[in-house]
Amino acid sequence: MITLPGLIDPHVHFREPGAVHKEDWDSGTFAALAGGFTMVLAMPNTQPPIFDASSLDLALQAARSKARCDYAQFLGAGPANAEIVAELAPRAAALKMYLDATYGELRLDDMGLWAPHFTKYPREFPIVVHAESRSMAAAILFAALYDRPVHIAHISLKEEILLIKAAKEKGIKVTCEVTPHHLFLSSPASDAKNTLKINGRLEVRPPLASKTDVEALWENLTVIDCIATDHAPHTLAEKVSAKPPPGFPGLETCLPLMLTAVNHQRLTLDDLIQKMHANPRRIFNLPDQPDTWIEVDQNEEYTLSASTQYTRCGWTPFEGWKVKGRLHKVVLRGKTAFEDGKVLAEKGSGINVR
Ligand code: DOR
Ligand code: ZN
Repeated sequence: MITLPGLIDPHVHFREPGAVHKEDWDSGTFAALAGGFTMVLAMPNTQPPIFDASSLDLALQAARSKARCDYAQFLGAGPANAEIVAELAPRAAALKMYLDATYGELRLDDMGLWAPHFTKYPREFPIVVHAESRSMAAAILFAALYDRPVHIAHISLKEEILLIKAAKEKGIKVTCEVTPHHLFLSSPASDAKNTLKINGRLEVRPPLASKTDVEALWENLTVIDCIATDHAPHTLAEKVSAKPPPGFPGLETCLPLMLTAVNHQRLTLDDLIQKMHANPRRIFNLPDQPDTWIEVDQNEEYTLSASTQYTRCGWTPFEGWKVKGRLHKVVLRGKTAFEDGKVLAEKGSGINVR
């Protein structure tokens, strides 16, 4: 058994307010603790989206009464709320800008709408962008022009990781994260063995990429600052419907997948700690969680299955995967929050780190 710091996931989607049949602050933080995460940063594409004081209050009220691990809530950038969100910044995880199509209403197509956010949002917090391919290049140019930190969510392509590498070499304040699904799954078109095949379950933004892209991510792990789950729960019924929404659950499969990769020597345990604790803490300016750690058995083998998960969505893209490395215990601020498959933390015991 080894001890690691409490993991921080800087990118989760809980569906409260608006779609609690998919997930709420209770089930989402339950899943977080069962995955070894003691702190999560929640995205703003809820219904309503979190983009002003009253919607922020709505999310934080739900979180305060239900969360079992520590958390902060993102604000969403809209076409006309740059001043409002800049004022709310001290109460929020950071600002999220959706520059490409995805799930929910928040989207800033017009580049003219970006500048007010880049000038007004306080520089001690990053702006997180959902920006794929060429819009990522545009976002990096904005980071350079405005000389402020930009964190790029869920990168998936070779061209993207190489672009970020080049930007970092130039001293542009850019950081990035990658999801486990973009590290472990490729698109079925490029992978004949992919058992998910062409069905709605595979829908995710950014889409699963080619094997060449996946290899490029592994080859450039030093460029990747964070492993973030992009936990995006939709129910199995929704995923197999005629109009499947994009997104995979990830909170409960991330750590075992990454520990398996450590076992296969694809990264070191120290890399894992950097990308799942130290870097998210530094990038998002997050406080220390005193007396907080997790315990894992690096040698225990088991099979991932939705039947043992706490997320409300009821499925996992990693069903049946054999992993090596299991979480046994989570201690959060001196109290055992999870032990041997059971979440012990009380509802409402999580604190808002902002
Ligand atoms: O696949 C995705 N699902 N990508 C996103 O960017 C949003 C997310 C969601 O909220 O479901
Ligand atoms: Zn997301």
